[in-house]
Amino acid sequence: MQLDVFTLFPHWFEWFESQRHVRNCIAAGSELRFLDYRATTPLSAGQVDDSPYGGGAGMVMRVDVVDAALQAAYGDSRAGRRIVLMTPSGRMFDEDLALELAAEPELTLLCGRYEGVDERVREHLCTDAISIGRYVLAGGELAAMVVADAVLRKLPGALGHADSAREESFSADLEGNPEYPHYTRPPVYRGWDVPDVLLSGDHERVREWRHERSRERGAQQEPGA
Ligand code: ADE
Repeated sequence: MQLDVFTLFPHWFEWFESQRHVRNCIAAGSELRFLDYRATTPLSAGQVDDSPYGGGAGMVMRVDVVDAALQAAYGDSRAGRRIVLMTPSGRMFDEDLALELAAEPELTLLCGRYEGVDERVREHLCTDAISIGRYVLAGGELAAMVVADAVLRKLPGALGHADSAREESFSADLEGNPEYPHYTRPPVYRGWDVPDVLLSGDHERVREWRHERSRERGAQQEPGA
């Protein structure tokens, strides 16, 4: 995958890029870039925002600044590229959307700051708008990291162990339910036991028990549960 993140704070992503699964993706051939809107702004003194038409508090990221950043990176060859605006008003991010994005060869995440981003960015420069939840962050950077993290760990070679992404939360193997509980040594700690079935060595019973716990957790997450 070729993944670009446009941001006013590219150095925030240094930590993200140093994470093992991200480094594994890069080693396996993915390319990540963190691009600074200020580096390509057509305005003087690194300006990227302006006051909102119609009045109101705060500043709005300008459409010409975002367009210039995309133009510098891609020229006119954006066709086919998924360009996603991170915004609390976007489509809700979930595991299905992570899988969908992981199948894209090229993905761009646009982080907004200030009060928002000029609506013409969403209308004319983006293919998608994504929210990571019904709350407002100070900007799209953390949201972009969440999306990039969930997407990159789907790529081949991201996780050390080939099976570790298969039977995980919300996967088809678990019928879309959250993952079952895990336990490790010691078998008893402060009187807290590990369920007997996990110590039984009976793989079929372990499998049934895990799927049952996973279904229970799924039911607990239903709205109104
Ligand atoms: N930017 C600010 N808040 C956000 C959210 N909840 N999701 C995506 N981008 C955001």
